[in-house]
Amino acid sequence: MIRYIADSRLFQMFGATTYYALAIGDDGRLAHVGWGVLGDGASSDTSVATGQKERFDDYDPFDMQRLRDEVLTFGDYTYHEVALKVTFPPAPDARAEGLPGVPIRDLRLRYASHEIVADAEPGLAPRMGGTRAEGSPRKVLRVRLEDPTHPFAATLCLRLTPEYDIVERWLELENTGTEPVVVEQCGFGNLHLPPGEYELMHLTGRWGSEFWIQRDKLPQGMLVLESRTSSTSPFHNPAFMLNRAGEACEDRGEVYFGCLAYSGNWRLAFEHNSDFSLKVIGGYNPFDFEMVLRPREKHVTPAFVHGCAADGWGGASRRLHAFGRKYVLPRGPTVAALRPILYNSWENTGYDVRVDEQIDLARKAAAIGVELFCIDDGWFGERRRRTSGIGDWWVRKDAFPNGLDPLISEVRRLGMTFGIWVEPEMVNPDSDMYRAHPDWVLHFPGRPRTTEKDELILDLGRPEVVEDVHGALDRLLREFQIDFMKWDMNRSASEPGSVSAKAVWRRHVEGVYGIIDRLRADHPSLSLEACSGGGGRIDWGILGRVDQVWPSDNTDPFDRIRIQEGFSYIYPARTMECWVTSPQESRNDNYDLRFDIAMRGALGIGAALDQLSDEQMARFGERIAFYKRIRRVVQLGHLHRLLLLDRHGVSAIEYVTGDGSEAVLSVAVVDPRAGYVSRVRLRGLVAGASYSVRNRGGSEVARLTGSGLMSEGLLLSTGGGFLQRGYSSTLHLMME
Ligand code: DGJ
Repeated sequence: MIRYIADSRLFQMFGATTYYALAIGDDGRLAHVGWGVLGDGASSDTSVATGQKERFDDYDPFDMQRLRDEVLTFGDYTYHEVALKVTFPPAPDARAEGLPGVPIRDLRLRYASHEIVADAEPGLAPRMGGTRAEGSPRKVLRVRLEDPTHPFAATLCLRLTPEYDIVERWLELENTGTEPVVVEQCGFGNLHLPPGEYELMHLTGRWGSEFWIQRDKLPQGMLVLESRTSSTSPFHNPAFMLNRAGEACEDRGEVYFGCLAYSGNWRLAFEHNSDFSLKVIGGYNPFDFEMVLRPREKHVTPAFVHGCAADGWGGASRRLHAFGRKYVLPRGPTVAALRPILYNSWENTGYDVRVDEQIDLARKAAAIGVELFCIDDGWFGERRRRTSGIGDWWVRKDAFPNGLDPLISEVRRLGMTFGIWVEPEMVNPDSDMYRAHPDWVLHFPGRPRTTEKDELILDLGRPEVVEDVHGALDRLLREFQIDFMKWDMNRSASEPGSVSAKAVWRRHVEGVYGIIDRLRADHPSLSLEACSGGGGRIDWGILGRVDQVWPSDNTDPFDRIRIQEGFSYIYPARTMECWVTSPQESRNDNYDLRFDIAMRGALGIGAALDQLSDEQMARFGERIAFYKRIRRVVQLGHLHRLLLLDRHGVSAIEYVTGDGSEAVLSVAVVDPRAGYVSRVRLRGLVAGASYSVRNRGGSEVARLTGSGLMSEGLLLSTGGGFLQRGYSSTLHLMME
């Protein structure tokens, strides 16, 4: 519910368990009033969230900007971090009098009007429809703020999803004048948290080790998480959780969380002041940023998604997962949207793809229960090796003399759907595309062009390049029966020269989003995976457009546990593509462990099927059949992190249906000291009900009550021995 109380000029927003409030001050400034968990017994009918309005005079002259503006601008008496910085041209009368003009870097935003509307969309929201109709209509509070003397307006938009206590915040900027204005800094919004000492959870990493969980005490001063790579990046993910130090754990404690729904250069700045107040400013990275708004031009920013949970980090994660499944992902929360079991031959065949070999693999994949067969890199242009071919999106003649159709028709005859790999934003210098259009890449004329992975980045700041890339992909989709595309992107930007100048950082993302949106609109049955050398482009912006993501190129099961645990803090299991691959360099060859870890998300197979024995193939088939029985719970259930790798040496994850009637428990032991962990307590079950606990073969291993499973826990080892490194199990619990 969103309401406006006219007497006190107060806006209140109530989620299922939380509130958010803001107010119009006497001077017209829009002030933050409060945000947090509704106390016991408090509700929208009680007077919570009336708050106190702060006044400018309440502060000392050295620290004037303690006022908690809902949109912090570089203006008035600013020196703290801001969401918006704008430069206006010098005053016209000064120029008329022949005086040197002083550009005005002073933006003051004051209340002009407000409205409460249904379901407005943030900027760069996907345009292919889908989930919007399935979710319940949501309310958006729009507060228009204007500069009192200069022609600039910013509308703060707050869309409330009450059932998950989540607000999406964005800004609509408008140059209402007749001369261009330059926006130098542009957040999607800023948050104010109650004063306190905070602990920050965020996800860091690099190629092959994405999504490592970091928990740090937030220092006083400014802490910045960001990407300057042109994409989301594997180094930091644009998401965080904050709790008062020592006051939260997995299932208890107040947790504030936030994410940026954007796949380009982003920044989250945490400004923890000397009075312990905390601001979080999130949006476009000010690094090399500039946005010129021409007269009458508008810009709608992407969304800063944020929420608050009383039930710990797990409660925050479950809210984000459910919100994402219902409102963000292209196909919504339906069972029909379950991810199919995919086969991808990249780790097996590399660039050496040949039609007969792929057909052979497809037959083997179908025999074990695979539903989607995807050919990875190597099928196009002169792509015999990584140095050539990217940009030439036609079928490689020597590998597929009769085109892709023979493979596709066999895949379909076998009852599977078909997918291909593409890397549309890149070009190899050794390609017909580059030879024809050497200017189409990011570069500064006359200066070196640095290749990475033998690739240069296409300049999506040029509309003709965007059209060409869209045209190539659209042609493929029209010519062949392609159901799935794995959209890869394998390098960070360098030498970002573009005809669109500094705007290229935004234009690149807008180009990618726009191409995907058009493809999805024109080919509604198409599904997509976002990949960026693994998990380099995973965020709620891309997840509005793709059905799944590839979290990491690292498929070693032990390494993968950590990566997947981190991923689970923010993103739902249904989106997390996980392959069972063949052991590399004789690292762990335990396929039970490989399957148990891959079954924590959307199961895929990347193993060398042609090198498996008949017995191994049969075992693969049994495990895939088991996954099909549990995937509804894994992909759509509520996730509970019961034991965490770093803390316990054991990782135990539970997925449970909303009504508690069915659950899946996945356990893996990494550190032998963790043999001391012999029981796992489950969550979310029906206390009075009886559950049959079955192993992957379908045999019952225990029959216990919900209350027993939640209080005493499930005994993992019945033989009395320690659980060894590499032990794993996936158990299916069904209410009797
Ligand atoms: C990087 C991806 O992460 C891999 O899965 C694979 O698709 C390769 N690119 C192909 O070049």
